[in-house]
Amino acid sequence: MITRVDDYLHAAPLSGAIPEQVGPFTLFRSTTAWPYYARPVPGSSAVVEPADIDVLRARCAELEIPLSLEWVVETCPSLGPAADAAGLTVVEHPLLVLERDEFRPVSADARCEILSADDAVLRQASAVASLAFHDPGTAIGAGGPEERDAKAIDVQDERIKAVVARVAQGISVSAGAFTEVGMVASGQHQPVGTTTEIVGVGTLPSMRRRGLAAAVTSTLAEHAFAHGVDLILLSAADDAVAAVYERVGFHRIGRVGAAE
Ligand SMILES: CC(C)(COP(=O)(O)OP(=O)(O)OC[C@H]1O[C@@H](n2cnc3c(N)ncnc32)[C@H](O)[C@@H]1OP(=O)(O)O)[C@@H](O)C(=O)NCCC(=O)NCCS
Repeated sequence: MITRVDDYLHAAPLSGAIPEQVGPFTLFRSTTAWPYYARPVPGSSAVVEPADIDVLRARCAELEIPLSLEWVVETCPSLGPAADAAGLTVVEHPLLVLERDEFRPVSADARCEILSADDAVLRQASAVASLAFHDPGTAIGAGGPEERDAKAIDVQDERIKAVVARVAQGISVSAGAFTEVGMVASGQHQPVGTTTEIVGVGTLPSMRRRGLAAAVTSTLAEHAFAHGVDLILLSAADDAVAAVYERVGFHRIGRVGAAE
C-alpha cells in the first residue's frame, strides 16, 4: 500500500512539472502557476545524507526556485534527519487512505457538488481555500463570505487560468459546499490512473464545525470511486484535521514529511 501511495505521489506532479534527477531526488520543475518540490526517487534504498541536500539546494538556487522536499517517511526514513542536519525545517503529517469498502458517506446542511471548469466558480473555490489555509487548525474564526468575495478579486488570473485548464482536462476535480451565502468550503482530488489524492480541503473560518469539510471530502470520494479510482490518499495537517477525514472512513498508514 505504502509503495503504491509513494508511486502515485511521484506521478501526480508530472501534470504540472518537468522532472529532473538531482542525486537521490527527483526535482519537479514547475511549468504552471504554483511551485512544486523535490521527492526521493521511489524504490531507492540509498541513505540520504546532508550532502545530498546541499547538492539539491545548489541546483534550486541555480534555477531560482525555493528548496522544498516532500516524502513518505516510511519509504525514506533517512531524509528527515538529513534535512534537519542540513538546516531545513522538517515537519511530519499523518498519511491516510480510503478504499471503496471503507467509505462512509457524510452529508451536511449544505449543497455539495462537483464544480465545472468555470472561471468565476473556481475563483470562489480558490478564495475559500486561501482564507481557510490562512487560518490553520480546526477552530471557528472570523473570515466569512465577505472576506471570500474580497479575496476572490485578488486571486491571480494566471493561477485561475491554470486551475480552469486542469479541471477541464480532468487532472483536477474540484468540489464545493454551498449554503445561502454561497460557497463556504471547497477541496479537490487529483486522479492518476486508479489512485487519487484529496488536497486543499478548506472551510471558511466562520463556517467551521458544521460538517462541511467532511461533506466536501465525501463528495470528492464519491466522485473518485464512481470514476475508476479504488484508492484515495491524503495527508492531514495534524491529528485534529485527520479526525475530520477519519469520520468519512480514512485510516492512517504512515506519515509524510515536508522540509523547506
Ligand atoms: C480542517 C477544516 C477543513 C475542517 O473544516 P470543518 O468544515 O470545520 O470540518 P467538519 O465540520 O467536517 O469537522 C470539524 C469538527 O466539527 C465537528 N462537527 C461536524 N458537524 C458538526 C455539527 N453539525 N455541529 C457541531 N460540530 C460538528 C466534527 O465532528 C469535527 O469535530 P472534531 O474536531 O472533534 O473531530 C477547517 O478547519 C480548515 O479549513 N482548516 C484550515 C485548512 C486545513 O487545515 N485544511 C485541511 C488540510 S489537510
